Amino acid sequence: EPVVAVVVAAGSGVRLGEGGPKALRDVGGRALVAHALDSLAGGGVSRAVIVSRAELAAAFADALADAPIPWTLTEGGAERQDSVANGLAEAERVAPDSRYVLVHDAARPFVPASVVAAVIAALRSGASAVIPAIRVIDTIRVADPHPGEATVVDRSRLRAVQTPQGFDLATLVRAHDHVRSKGLAVTDDAMACEAIGEHVTLVEGSRDSLKITEPFDLLVAEAVWRRRTD
Ligand code: C5P
Repeated sequence: EPVVAVVVAAGSGVRLGEGGPKALRDVGGRALVAHALDSLAGGGVSRAVIVSRAELAAAFADALADAPIPWTLTEGGAERQDSVANGLAEAERVAPDSRYVLVHDAARPFVPASVVAAVIAALRSGASAVIPAIRVIDTIRVADPHPGEATVVDRSRLRAVQTPQGFDLATLVRAHDHVRSKGLAVTDDAMACEAIGEHVTLVEGSRDSLKITEPFDLLVAEAVWRRRTD
């Protein structure tokens, strides 16, 4: 079965500083969104819906002239979950034959194809919601209400969640409808699925799949890219 991906790229990207929309920023002579489509296609995705601003259509067409899979652009929303919902509607329109959908942040361009493939494999084995995650490196404390105080949490139990997250497409659409009608705030799509009682399955993520947010992350991403092309 074909797998469609919704690639969200409608954030403001202000934390990255000057240099234009984040998804169109360059690493190694290629826009981040193009790297993201390369990674998704390498793992088995057959089509993409990119969610961004319509006024950037020409710039995306330029950046994705040699994209490995067909793609369309659709308009984003105020919050990430609004952008994903718009992308899902477009995915159902352009890829009605896709049973599965991967939701991916354009800000994670260097996710290894093996991670994408593992997410798809878990879906094909019957999981309805799949997330890549990695162990955390830092010792982490939860901030207390009292300024300057915090409680340590058992690091061995913590996981940092990445994308692409994989879903049964009809289930994720239902989950989004639910969180919207209840006014629930969710920071990722797996949380939306849990809100309708779906079980979330973890697969191993990768540190290569860092989320590019601040200028420092772009430095690391460049190093990840260089190592890959060496
Ligand atoms: O805001 P956050 O860092 O969680 O954003 C993660 C991803 O969601 C980014 O790729 C960003 O472009 C996207 N996003 C979006 N629409 C929004 C906010 C974020 O597509 N309204």
